[in-house]
Amino acid sequence: MQATASAHPNVALIKYWGKQDVATNLPAVGSLSLTLGGLTTRTSVSFESDLEQDELVINGVPDAGALSRVTRCLDMLREHAGVKDFARVNTSNDFPTGAGLASSASGYAALVKAAAAALHIDIATEDLDYIARIGSGSAPRSLHAGIVLLEKTSGLTGTRCHSVAIPDDWPLSVVVAVTSRQPKDVSSTGGMESSRKTSSAYKGWVDTHPADLEAGLGFVRQRDFAALADISEHSCLKMHAVAMSSMPPLVYWSGATLACMQRIRELRKSGVPVFFTIDAGPQVKAVCMPEAVSKVHKALAEVPGVIDVLDCYLGNGAWVES
Ligand code: PMV
Repeated sequence: MQATASAHPNVALIKYWGKQDVATNLPAVGSLSLTLGGLTTRTSVSFESDLEQDELVINGVPDAGALSRVTRCLDMLREHAGVKDFARVNTSNDFPTGAGLASSASGYAALVKAAAAALHIDIATEDLDYIARIGSGSAPRSLHAGIVLLEKTSGLTGTRCHSVAIPDDWPLSVVVAVTSRQPKDVSSTGGMESSRKTSSAYKGWVDTHPADLEAGLGFVRQRDFAALADISEHSCLKMHAVAMSSMPPLVYWSGATLACMQRIRELRKSGVPVFFTIDAGPQVKAVCMPEAVSKVHKALAEVPGVIDVLDCYLGNGAWVES
């Protein structure tokens, strides 16, 4: 009863910010994301009859903080399999953890994939997506390849997630400028709840989001990079405007974040096909056409405060290793 699975993090172009239900991470809005090949979380799960509770080790260090959520996902899978054994979970990331690179998304995607394989259960994609969502709202997106739509539905789980373009359909690249390796102060769940309760911009965000999502999806279908750039930067800045107008304010950016955004806008003005997006952390993701990667990489590496630059490409959904 042991298996190992891997998953990539993902980055949203049309952002998710805000929960309709915190307990099940039901998002207030849908989202459109890119699965980031080049960054990987690898997770082993082993169900053992002599354990008295689940055990979680992240990057070699026991982690009690995330254990209750991990146990919640494992309980759902155990119930499905009719198994009672607790599990030893060992997970590691080859990129900075908890700093806005969506390690929770790849973490929960790899966890549910590995646990389902270890338990030998044949589970519907929608059910695995839902169990991953219990772990992290953006995790279902990491179970799918390429460009991924997470949409709200009136069905039982309230969401549906699927790939709208596989990597070969439109091989976009993502250059990540790392500006800090520190875990963020305010979790995205804490930030989203604070925005929902205190930001006067929150209602406008939720009301205008469906049109942004529809537009983003249309531009992906038309392979219209310039239009996708505009709507994606708009969605990113609108999300951060909601965060910044919360009380207390949530400013996830550093000086280097802003400098990278400016550099990316200059590049686009000069004809380089590139745009930025930023999650709940100070890292900047520059989405570009593959031919622009080396130019974008070089430009971002020169920005003061950038400590590392990682080249990513569109990746596959989570997969079982063994
Ligand atoms: O999966 P969570 O709960 O960490 O939410 C992440 C939300 C953002 O990364 C800020 C935006 C997004 O859509 O990925």
